[in-house]
Amino acid sequence: NPSSLHAIRGTFLDFINDPFYASDADSVRYISDGLLVVENGAIADFGTYDDLHNRYANLPTETYFNKLITPGFIDTHIHYPQYEMVAAYGEQLLEWLNKYTFPTEGKFHDYAYAQKIAALFLDELLKNGTTTALVFATVHPQSVDAFFEVASRLNLRMICGKVLMNRYAPDFLTDTPQRAYEESKKLIQKWHNNGRLLYAVTPRFAITSTDEQLRLAGQLLQEFPDVYLHTHLSENLQEVEWVAELFPNSKSYLDVYDRAGLVGKTSVFAHGVQLTDEEFQRLSHAKAAISFCPTSNLFLGSGLFKLHTAKSATMPIKVGLGTDIGAGTSFSMLQTMSEAYKVVQLQNQSLSAFKALFLATLGGAIALSLDDKLGNFDPGKEADFVVLDPQATPLMAVRNQGFPAKSREELSDQVFGTLMLGDDRAIHAVYVAGTLAHQK
Ligand code: GUN
Ligand code: ZN
Repeated sequence: NPSSLHAIRGTFLDFINDPFYASDADSVRYISDGLLVVENGAIADFGTYDDLHNRYANLPTETYFNKLITPGFIDTHIHYPQYEMVAAYGEQLLEWLNKYTFPTEGKFHDYAYAQKIAALFLDELLKNGTTTALVFATVHPQSVDAFFEVASRLNLRMICGKVLMNRYAPDFLTDTPQRAYEESKKLIQKWHNNGRLLYAVTPRFAITSTDEQLRLAGQLLQEFPDVYLHTHLSENLQEVEWVAELFPNSKSYLDVYDRAGLVGKTSVFAHGVQLTDEEFQRLSHAKAAISFCPTSNLFLGSGLFKLHTAKSATMPIKVGLGTDIGAGTSFSMLQTMSEAYKVVQLQNQSLSAFKALFLATLGGAIALSLDDKLGNFDPGKEADFVVLDPQATPLMAVRNQGFPAKSREELSDQVFGTLMLGDDRAIHAVYVAGTLAHQK
């Protein structure tokens, strides 16, 4: 019975503070021989094997040798309907949307088709160690039903929402402000806090929604203060220019959302590549989050996200990592951390292995206001975790010799090697609510 008390023994790594603001000594928790005790899908106890094994001597225990166990990865921005159109050649954002994205999303009026893709999509997430994601569906309410049905069967903590768009898109993908409001409201009542599922009001971006539609989205947030707001913000220069033309009364791109009441504690904005310091300041003040999507920003040629500005001590912003499939090119959060490192390198800054892993775990949980439930191994949190194999390939086995690490410096080097070289091959096993959900 997987809901009864059981334990996992192995090498554990998680974060108890934000390493962008605290030292590694105060933020990194590394237990080379640890015990994680699980009951009813939650963490019941966590500590060194030495300290805990007498208390839990008779528990059924799974032991992982030469592996590294981390909290499940959190993908703070991804589109499930774009599963099949990943790696579409040759365009930047606005052309890419018209040429590839909109025709594909049209298929999701079909519930059975949406269910089929949702199942493939969630399987791919699990294979890559991602246990929670903030997910775009399409304009069709049935695309949200299909996604949540599949996620619910897998007992995953997932956030999704129907896309709101009422202009500058093909007729088969547009709604109206009133219809979008009513359909979203029904979906919130059906799915928000249904098991582990949560709802996000999801206007696509300022270009595809009129002011009236954005205001009705704001009204939904007033009526349901704990639902999320999920949208795109300042990704591409042409996009930013067009938004300025469409909303001449707004001070900035972010101000368009702000005037509609869409900038708050549960708001998550994807990209933010072109943000001004004033907009960063406003996001910090509002406690809103940014999803940094490095593979997407490079693939669409959007630009380099200023992570050092977003994580500055003077105007700290909640930041998570996003794959942004299908503009992003990998489902792997390991690959996403690797590309985040390179985006930071190009700006003459650095991103340590610990900071990158923080963004993919506890940082993501904080960005999604789920750090009371997810993100590290604190007792009481939900038992979603990943068993990484830092020696998954012949190359990685040689690169990551001497495992497990004897010091934090050695650990940092091995984690860095695993992020740079790893992908789904390095995901040995994945646990969802304490139960084995994927094994390589
Ligand atoms: N901006 C508006 N829609 C999209 C989308 O589907 N993908 C990305 N990357 N940016 C967008
Ligand atoms: Zn996106």
